[in-house]
Amino acid sequence: MQIFIDSADAKELAALAETGLVDGVTTNPSLIAKSGGDFFETLKAICASVPGPVSAEVVAQDAATMLKEGRKLRGLADNIVVKLPLTVEGLKACKTLEEEGHPCNVTLCFSAVQALLAAKAGATFISPFLGRLDDNGQDGMQLIREIRAIYDNYEYPTQILAASIRSANHVKDAAIAGADCATIPPAVFKSLYKHILTDAGLEAFLKDWKSTGQSIL
Ligand code: G3P
Repeated sequence: MQIFIDSADAKELAALAETGLVDGVTTNPSLIAKSGGDFFETLKAICASVPGPVSAEVVAQDAATMLKEGRKLRGLADNIVVKLPLTVEGLKACKTLEEEGHPCNVTLCFSAVQALLAAKAGATFISPFLGRLDDNGQDGMQLIREIRAIYDNYEYPTQILAASIRSANHVKDAAIAGADCATIPPAVFKSLYKHILTDAGLEAFLKDWKSTGQSIL
């Protein structure tokens, strides 16, 4: 599974990319606002430090203006992916941009039929929002399973990008459900490699090694 980081904090993203485990980044207008930086400069900095796809979201409501915004965003860096909302205008813009060779990530997906339409529009990525469905009393992970089944039935190449991830368990369950990618907040990413038994086990190994009086180098 590809691991994307859900953030617009260019500095933190550059540090996380050094792990070699980060395959891409997703941003959205809320994350850009939280970063406090200039939209275009922030995106350019992120694209320079992360080699994989970096989603940048349009803010227009109509397809014609979305196309203009999307083409402009794609001009910033080769690894920009145009993020479009799952509206009929967003789907129209997705179809045109993908036909022009611009990869798109259709976001704010909350149902399997929405995901079906995004695949038909040729989207490179579909972003189902797990956490927000759970918050709404629904089962976010069930949506991933449904989209996986539909895409497999018809061999749609659209990649499932599990979004609105809130925990390490969400990452595990999305992987089991067959999501192609998960976009993960930095704090959740850092929690993935942590385990109390790893820390305790390492401490014991190092203590025993010290007692041997030997060294490897
Ligand atoms: O980037 C979109 C998505 O991951 C948002 O997550 O936590 O705001 O529901 P959240």
